[in-house]
Amino acid sequence: MSETNATPTYPSVKDLTLEEKASLTSGGDAWHLQSVEHKGIPGYMITDGPHGLRKSLASNTSETDLNDSVPATCFPPAAGLSSSWNPALIRKVGEVMGEECVQEKVAVILGPGVNIKRNPLGGRCFEYWSEDPYLAGHEAVGIVEGVQSKGVGTSLKHFAANNQETDRLRVDARISQRALREIYLPAFEHIVKTAQPWTIMCSYNRINGVHSAQNHWLLTDVLRDEWGFKGIVMSDWGADHDRVASLNAGLNLEMPPSYTDDQIVYAARDGRIDPAQLDRMAQGMIDLTNKARAAMSIDGYRFDVDAHDEVARQAAVESIVMLKNEDAILPIDPAGGKKLAVIGEFARTPRYQGGGSSHITPTKMTSFLDALDERGIKADFAPGFTLDLAPADSALTLEAVETARDADVVLMFLGLPEEAESEGFDRTTLDIPAKQIELLRQVAAENPNVVVVLSNGSVVTVHPWADASKSILESWLLGQAGGRALADVVFGEASPSGKLAQSIPMDINDDPSMLNWPGEEGHVDYGEGVFVGYRYYDTYNKAVDYPFGYGLSYATFEIGDVAVAKTGANTASVTATVTNTSDTPAAETVQVYVAPGKADVARPVHELKGFEKVFLGAGESKTVTIELNERAFAYWSEKYNDWHVEAGEYTVEVGVSSRDIAASIAVTLDGDGKSMPLNEWSTFGEWSADPVGAKVVEAVGAAGERGDMPKLPDNDMMRLFLNSMPINSLPTLLGESGKDLTAFMLDEYAALTK
Ligand code: BGC
Repeated sequence: MSETNATPTYPSVKDLTLEEKASLTSGGDAWHLQSVEHKGIPGYMITDGPHGLRKSLASNTSETDLNDSVPATCFPPAAGLSSSWNPALIRKVGEVMGEECVQEKVAVILGPGVNIKRNPLGGRCFEYWSEDPYLAGHEAVGIVEGVQSKGVGTSLKHFAANNQETDRLRVDARISQRALREIYLPAFEHIVKTAQPWTIMCSYNRINGVHSAQNHWLLTDVLRDEWGFKGIVMSDWGADHDRVASLNAGLNLEMPPSYTDDQIVYAARDGRIDPAQLDRMAQGMIDLTNKARAAMSIDGYRFDVDAHDEVARQAAVESIVMLKNEDAILPIDPAGGKKLAVIGEFARTPRYQGGGSSHITPTKMTSFLDALDERGIKADFAPGFTLDLAPADSALTLEAVETARDADVVLMFLGLPEEAESEGFDRTTLDIPAKQIELLRQVAAENPNVVVVLSNGSVVTVHPWADASKSILESWLLGQAGGRALADVVFGEASPSGKLAQSIPMDINDDPSMLNWPGEEGHVDYGEGVFVGYRYYDTYNKAVDYPFGYGLSYATFEIGDVAVAKTGANTASVTATVTNTSDTPAAETVQVYVAPGKADVARPVHELKGFEKVFLGAGESKTVTIELNERAFAYWSEKYNDWHVEAGEYTVEVGVSSRDIAASIAVTLDGDGKSMPLNEWSTFGEWSADPVGAKVVEAVGAAGERGDMPKLPDNDMMRLFLNSMPINSLPTLLGESGKDLTAFMLDEYAALTK
């Protein structure tokens, strides 16, 4: 096959035998696509993902040592990067990740993972983006766009509803259609519609009884037919349990191979697989290979290790969220002559990424202590504790308290050791180890000037110990350049600008999903429906330690001139001016929430529908414009099996966290005009609320006045009963003549709608 023409001709499924087509629907080995060399189809590598490249050195999953991979830049996992609220930065991270794939000849990197953090105990929360689908989708799309701009594919995962690790390979996630559409699917939907990821990886679990790999509704009806997905779907590793059912459902690729291609061949021969479906699935694999050809044929490319480390550092700086800062204890002036104590093993041995399939071998590593050395800043260090769940070591405690005693500022590095959270299991507590809290209390008793720096992948409670600290930096997992990024923030070269992508509850038992966590007897009911994270806390006025969207800065800001203009029947445009009222350059994130008015279904009190991070010099102002489309106001109606915007008043809130709203402005929408046909089972109240039904109700009143029909009761209590009655129950209230009234209403309606 010649590839020298300007428009090269590539093989097509028409050139393949049945056996060759079947072979393409399973991997070549654990980390490669299947090749058909003599037909010009190469078997490119695909590998993890998601916060940098884990190019495995093994070809067989059974011999895979997850830590045995080629060096690659380790960026902050999504728990950190999601706090940046900076899509442009995230795209940049994607671009450089794509360059590393080109060097390593990896055609598809397995990420990003955009599952919702339903419960902060979830084992993979560290590599997922948010409790909010809008934020998750609008951030993670940057990874897809960035990587794919380099001619390399991504694999958006895990589609869908991998929200826990307990029983993850088979648990049946029972989720209402509304919660799926409003919470668990929109991040995938947004990324598919705006960036067309080359591949999607399905999840292990079942959704409403059907394994994702075999879920035709998910992989074909929704993903391809509704959203217009053009790429291929692969299984999570070992998630394909029935090759034939999966292929029929819309799964192109089983990973890793189970050496069962003969099942596909037999099924295609005996009609259990439609030959056209096999052709579509196999052609998808050929198209994927073709898309990657250009980048995969670049030889000798070397990425710039230092430049990529700098991107990792910037990403880490913007991932840090400052939760409190009493007495402006931060930043510390490095030339101010302050005596510093650094306590906590994490300062020397950083926890910078999570455990499991995403584990990367970094190209470099800078701890906070390394960063102090680089800057020539002196500090006394004591590890204080070991990075495990073993009991406190009294000698380490004593040394730490001594070290902290006469420092001017104590920087205490606390957090979750590696064994406390990972892919593969869920946490059982939100607390950091008791020995660390005990050490903090002892240190604070000697020296109140304590700054806590937290390292953790998913939320930890701060409630039990926050009073013992003057400042808290939630630094999540910061990737390989985290030490330098922390030094940038601590010493004021950068102002913290991270905002929480996840609420910090006071107690895990406040979490709305706890009643159904992690499920039982093979299933988990998502009983909280759409009330996940702040959607629950804010609607039900539940106190939290720090709300969604929250984060402090060294600067101060003002949001003013907020205006909302209607741009269509159900759309609006929001403008606001944000001013840096300090002399510190910094960034603030303007957040737009939509609060519905009176609604037919229970809706969260407000939901994030837009945001923009604004970088401002001292005293500078900028005006942002955020467009709200129809979806911003809609809910998923199970009645219409569609999105629905009710007519009426909505409030647009502009603020800097879900609980710090600077301005609320009402906007009245026309609604989308959807209505259900009325019938004998519709209540009298529904007839009255419907535009056509209301005319019939008017006619009923007139007929009553004329004496042609029974008069309707007019006292309040009877009216209340009437309104809740399907009209076929009218005889219960009106006696036999109620039957005439029912017939009259149905006839009138038929006449008006014919
Ligand atoms: C994980 C995926 C990962 C795959 C390959 C699975 O166990 O769930 O996220 O991409 O392994 O390592």
